[in-house]
Amino acid sequence: MKTEFIKADISKPLDDQLTPAAEILKRGGLVAFPTETVYGLGACALDSDAAKKIYAAKGRPSDNPLIIHISRPEDAEKYCFTNETFYKLSSAFMPGPITVIMPKKPIIPDAVTGGLDTVAVRIPSDKVANKLIELCGFPIAAPSANISGKPSPTDADAVMQDMNGRIDMVIDGGECNIGVESTIVKPMSDGVKLLRPGGITVGMLEAVVGKVEIDPVITEKPTDDRKPEAPGMKYRHYAPIAKMTLICGDGKDFFERAAEFINKKISENENTGVLCTDEAAAKIKGKYVVSLGAVDDPAMHAHRLFKALRNFDDMPVDRIYAISDGKDEVELAVYNRMIKAAGYDIISI
Ligand code: TXA
Ligand code: MG
Repeated sequence: MKTEFIKADISKPLDDQLTPAAEILKRGGLVAFPTETVYGLGACALDSDAAKKIYAAKGRPSDNPLIIHISRPEDAEKYCFTNETFYKLSSAFMPGPITVIMPKKPIIPDAVTGGLDTVAVRIPSDKVANKLIELCGFPIAAPSANISGKPSPTDADAVMQDMNGRIDMVIDGGECNIGVESTIVKPMSDGVKLLRPGGITVGMLEAVVGKVEIDPVITEKPTDDRKPEAPGMKYRHYAPIAKMTLICGDGKDFFERAAEFINKKISENENTGVLCTDEAAAKIKGKYVVSLGAVDDPAMHAHRLFKALRNFDDMPVDRIYAISDGKDEVELAVYNRMIKAAGYDIISI
């Protein structure tokens, strides 16, 4: 299959630019498009056959359900049974980087929800994404536009690396602003349960819905007794080719101790990659050090994380050490992606 590549220019009217993409989606094809979180791999969410093509293109297990993307909150009740918590969340955070799990209506095919009786609903704030959904007139089902297991793509080049030849079109809308996938929540009788951390943080949710219960698999390895409620959270994910280990700890000399540990590893093997922040990077004596930014800029860590993980695949490294920067607010999303990229290989020092 030939994959068409187009650039969207948001300084010009988008209708004409995006009409060919909407036409592809209307006839059941696949189009990758930018969102504010990561690039999505879209298909018509009301068409089982189109949804099945997504699973084939990504190599995704069919029990891992897709998120449906709509352009305005008023449309939600066409596809799910809404409630008060949904509207509290939608008025506070939508459009934006949040996905809400709601009981589904029959119009959403089982192929989209992996047979579940709930559906994940999100309204992206990215102008290209929002306009594309509006032009289609139906919701777009879209997982992240990576091959299953790889880091999610945050620019169109990363999408092409994984999807060239597998889908009909890629729309280049530049770099994704947030860089990690949306926060996923499920409304509960009081408050919400957090199933995946993202740009909308626990503190922001608490301010709107009160109680936030955190799914333990966000910070710990899933086991038979500890199964994630978002099926996708159980799969190995985000992993670079080289084996990665995450170094955790605290105290004011943590970076010092982490750097000492890693410098010893580098002295034994110079093909060691390191993922950390500027402050730790200054203490590390290796050739393959990738920084996520200043220690006090967690939004930047999220923004850079997936590209940094992909970058290691282009370096001659056969081992990677990452330094954890904590679990507060947005850093919880970064920590969750890092432990998965490390296959839960974590050392406390
Ligand atoms: O930011 C995002 O959410 C991106 C962009 C493209 O919108 N999409 C994304 O999709 O990350 P994906 O498929 O890579 O991750 C969706 C997650 C998976 O962990 C899946 O298991 C979970 O959402 N999910 C989907 N439907 C669900 C449901 N009904 N109940 C529980 N979890 C669900
Ligand atoms: Mg994904």
